Amino acid sequence: MAQFTLAAHLTCPLDKQLLTLQNRSLQCPSGHSFDIAKQGYVNLLPVQKKNSKDPGDSKEMIQARQRFLQSGLYQPISDELNQLVKTHLPSPSNDSLISIVDAGCGEGYYLSRLATENQLIEADNIELIGVDISKWGAQAATKYQLPITWVVGTNAQLPVAENSVDLIICMFGFYELEWFAKVLKPNGKVILAEAGPEHLIELREIIYPEVRRRDVPALKTADELGFTSRQQNQINFAPKTLNQAQIQDLLVMTPHLYRASYEGKQAAQALTKLDLSAQVVFRVLQYKGQG
Ligand SMILES: C[S@@+](CC[C@H](N)C(=O)[O-])C[C@H]1O[C@@H](n2cnc3c(N)ncnc32)[C@H](O)[C@@H]1O
Repeated sequence: MAQFTLAAHLTCPLDKQLLTLQNRSLQCPSGHSFDIAKQGYVNLLPVQKKNSKDPGDSKEMIQARQRFLQSGLYQPISDELNQLVKTHLPSPSNDSLISIVDAGCGEGYYLSRLATENQLIEADNIELIGVDISKWGAQAATKYQLPITWVVGTNAQLPVAENSVDLIICMFGFYELEWFAKVLKPNGKVILAEAGPEHLIELREIIYPEVRRRDVPALKTADELGFTSRQQNQINFAPKTLNQAQIQDLLVMTPHLYRASYEGKQAAQALTKLDLSAQVVFRVLQYKGQG
């Protein structure tokens, strides 16, 4: 049985009360109980939010992403995130608990690297929670063997207490600003990372007959939900050469494989190497709090 790290602010997905650890399960005061999986994560996905039998990324997608990320090809993205967190996280000098949630954490690469590189795991008053709707994601994340709380759950109803979170990161994920506003403390921050218009352009030019360069979407409701924009920056990194296995993993872990035409897929599958560049847009929002 792998160890499970209990975060102080986890809540019951059925009635939002705080969960406590009883042997190998989490329980709320009304008696709802959630078993901790032997790998060391907990499933807090409400049944009504489970829109398919196996929601989120499949086991194959998660495995492909884990191999790809472990190869270090996206490390500059992780480094940029870690730098932004250093700038925007409140200083952990006082005694109050600082809570960081990775919403849509996938197989856990970014949160694990943030925890180790920024020495967050060494601080007693920082809790780290990774949430993904895919049980394969939470399961794979436990392999990092870090004191991080890995949870199967949805960004549309994050299973953490209202007004308890200092920072939410959402890396290429499905952000739900309305719910993020509920759980953030006043002045809490959100860091969003998304593909820029030139992201993976060399691959997209091979698999699509016509490439559309789209800017990141406007955050239309952010203002009325109480968020202000604090920073936006873009990182570009020069082409890196991917081998055949890395190209195939990249295709499996992104939506491109499903969107590409038959001819596009054939062309990508025939590639033995590819010089590929990346472009990622980071946006930092601050939650002002209600009223
Ligand atoms: C493109 S992947 C990014 C994963 C990870 N953040 C990364 O960059 O490696 C998107 C992730 O969001 C998860 N996901 C999809 N819908 C979700 C939801 N409503 N709540 C939480 N996670 C969700 C998927 O299972 C998948 O792991």
